[in-house]
Amino acid sequence: MKLYLATGNAKKLKELQAIIAEAALPVEVESAAALGGMPEVVEDAGTFPGNALKKAKGLLEIAPEDAWVLADDSGLCVDALGGAPGVYSARYAGENASDEENVEKLLRELDTIEEMNRQAAFVCVLALANKAGEEHFFEGKCSGEITHELYGEGGFGYDPVFVPQGQEMTFAALPAEVKAGMSHRGEALGKFLDWVKGMR
Ligand code: IMP
Repeated sequence: MKLYLATGNAKKLKELQAIIAEAALPVEVESAAALGGMPEVVEDAGTFPGNALKKAKGLLEIAPEDAWVLADDSGLCVDALGGAPGVYSARYAGENASDEENVEKLLRELDTIEEMNRQAAFVCVLALANKAGEEHFFEGKCSGEITHELYGEGGFGYDPVFVPQGQEMTFAALPAEVKAGMSHRGEALGKFLDWVKGMR
């Protein structure tokens, strides 16, 4: 199976590649860069599956005939904020906002929220599509809590302020393999890899 990963986010790409490689399945993985880069896609579907499918179809347009495309749409849903930033996680502090600006806004919004009410969950939906019109979706979720300050140097996005359930450190402070083993992306990819196994 020849699989193109539809993301322009280098850190997301690294996580996806590492987990797929670990599974040692007959999947030949390429990034969008092999096709000249990830095309511009307007993420206005309003849902994780909708946006993931838009990204998959965007890259599919320039992919070879026999290719499969896998796209990730993900975000952080915070209970005390009614599920925000959710599908708007990448642009929470504005269009083209940096990870630092988004995290800063999140901590500001939660400033008065006490310890016991800082629950949140990362959600990841993977959309798999091919030119024959097949579409499949795989979802993963990881619950945890938002800290008051940033901790750790690893990961990306909201990792420095998210402590997954059962851990005492943020995703940014945990080793990448630990994050991969329990993250929303790891769970969604696990379901995708099971699907690949069933296909053989
Ligand atoms: P999108 O899927 O490209 O629309 O953006 C996802 C956004 O959600 C990222 O830019 C991050 O802000 C956030 N996000 C998704 N997955 C993770 C993760 O594993 N760690 C930290 N932040 C994440």
